[in-house]
Amino acid sequence: MTNRTTDEETRDPPFFEVVEKRVSVRRYKPDPVPQVHLEKILNSARLAPNSGNQQACRYLVVRDREKLDKLKEDCIKTRESVLRARGDEVPDEETLRKHYNDVFSAPLYILVLVDKTARYKGYEDKDGSIAACHIMLAARAMGYGTVFYTDSVPEELCMKNFDIPEKYSRTCMIPVGVPESWPERRNRLPLDELVFYEKIT
Ligand SMILES: Cc1cc2nc3c(=O)[nH]c(=O)nc-3n(C[C@H](O)[C@H](O)[C@H](O)COP(=O)(O)O)c2cc1C
Repeated sequence: MTNRTTDEETRDPPFFEVVEKRVSVRRYKPDPVPQVHLEKILNSARLAPNSGNQQACRYLVVRDREKLDKLKEDCIKTRESVLRARGDEVPDEETLRKHYNDVFSAPLYILVLVDKTARYKGYEDKDGSIAACHIMLAARAMGYGTVFYTDSVPEELCMKNFDIPEKYSRTCMIPVGVPESWPERRNRLPLDELVFYEKIT
């Protein structure tokens, strides 16, 4: 599987290679994502399993730099109180700004939304997360990086800045773009620590 360059043709790499190579990317090049690639990624979300096939997920694509910059400033303003509330260390303003410059460096963002008024309740984050997973794997198959942002870009700020109707909950916000570089895969526990057969021991 290749690392995408702007003019690279897509091919379909084997599924397990995609799973191995997907890592969270938090810094992007400004290269645009062509509409045809975006639609292939969104179509993978459309085909994701979902509760009762009620298809309550919606996808808001944001490319507007002005809107993204405004959201970035709001994230920077509110981050200190979020970190304090969690008992986490608060970085200085410059570090925080550099972090959010990276968070908002992608050429486009997909917000995964779920209609809370759908018939079967309580599945919002399950449906949204599975759709998000399809997005992230499809994007990786095409050589793009992604990450599943939740607290880093708070839901309420997205609702306000993108004027999202209250009937939706936001599962996550996913940047899609060409990575500045591909991060190392983070360690995972070995399978024998994670899997039990028949009984948890
Ligand atoms: C439910 C969920 C919430 C996450 N929220 C954030 C987040 O707010 N900010 C962030 O930088 N990464 C977030 N991530 C990404 C994880 O940090 C990342 O998947 C994890 O560290 C494993 O790294 P990998 O994706 O590179 O394998 C989230 C992932 C999940 C599944």
